[in-house]
Amino acid sequence: MSRLLVVAGKGGVGKTTVTAVMARASADSGLRVLVVTLDSRTGLSELLGGRATDGTTYDGTTIHTGLGPNGTGSIHLRTITASEALQDYLATQGLARLAKRLVASGVVGVVSSAAPGIDDLLVLGKIKHLVGLTGPNGEHDLILVDAPAAGHAISFLQSPRAMATTIRGGPLRSQAIEVQQMLTDPDKCRVLMVTLPETTPVNEMLETTESLRESVGVSFAPVVVNNVDVAVDMEALVAAGESTARGSLPTDDLMRAAEYRAERSALHRTTIERVGQISHDVITLPHVATASMDHDDVVVLADLVRGASPKRSRAKRPS
Ligand SMILES: Nc1ncnc2c1ncn2[C@@H]1O[C@H](COP(=O)(O)OP(=O)(O)OP(=O)(O)O)[C@@H](O)[C@H]1O
Ligand SMILES: [Mg+2]
Repeated sequence: MSRLLVVAGKGGVGKTTVTAVMARASADSGLRVLVVTLDSRTGLSELLGGRATDGTTYDGTTIHTGLGPNGTGSIHLRTITASEALQDYLATQGLARLAKRLVASGVVGVVSSAAPGIDDLLVLGKIKHLVGLTGPNGEHDLILVDAPAAGHAISFLQSPRAMATTIRGGPLRSQAIEVQQMLTDPDKCRVLMVTLPETTPVNEMLETTESLRESVGVSFAPVVVNNVDVAVDMEALVAAGESTARGSLPTDDLMRAAEYRAERSALHRTTIERVGQISHDVITLPHVATASMDHDDVVVLADLVRGASPKRSRAKRPS
């Protein structure tokens, strides 16, 4: 739908996971995907199948090539910080040496506490530059950004408009205006909201959506409802309990567990319907029964998103 997808949502709803899943699904469809994180400690690299150190630098690391039906799909991960974006920008203005000294002196921290939003604008300015390099003749087809948690995601995306009204002139003002134009152009940028299938997270997601629509003017990609509990087949569960535990698991307990799951999944279905009524397009991702998500889980979820039958799924684990 657009060249840039900013993945946003409340803390802990699965933004990083969804970023990895959407990146993998897009690359498996043949797209050259650039994943941008603002924080190198999110575990995104491992979720994408890389090593912990991959993608932690400004230039980043290519984690996959040769994906997709024609082998055109790829995934590149990079970490963009405000001070490196500033250094990069000054270098393009022929001020590389000054930039090094400014950054080493910590001036970015000082400036951004004096003018809140300037660090966000610097990062978005770099992302805008990268969006300009997407397309058939460019390096990437799609850029995915793992945005900061909701509260900060709003101020992050509001920063260009705020800067454009505060700053009277100069390169920062034109930067702010150009970034704002990119954010409001649905062919270039959309926000992908992630939420959980429960009432309060959905209400908060709808509030954030409204706030972003009004204060930034962004368009939206389909909403991802993550961590959905799928209904269990009670009879199969009881049968499995009888055959594997040889009667050591009481059928009553299994039935109660199954009933609990059935109630939860019914509640989740109702919540998803509600999201569907309000924001048309919904992508659901199931809850994966694991202590910690890994690359294999991401590949399975990516296949689900693409509507492909999971090929590389590992043996089913008990939930
Ligand atoms: N579909 C899922 N099934 C099972 N576990 C999941 C699923 N999605 C996310 N998780 C787990 O939930 C936790 C939070 O996910 P994640 O880190 O992606 O959220 P986040 O929104 O990026 O969090 P933060 O706001 O801290 O950046 C992680 O432990 C992740 O493995
Ligand atoms: Mg995260």
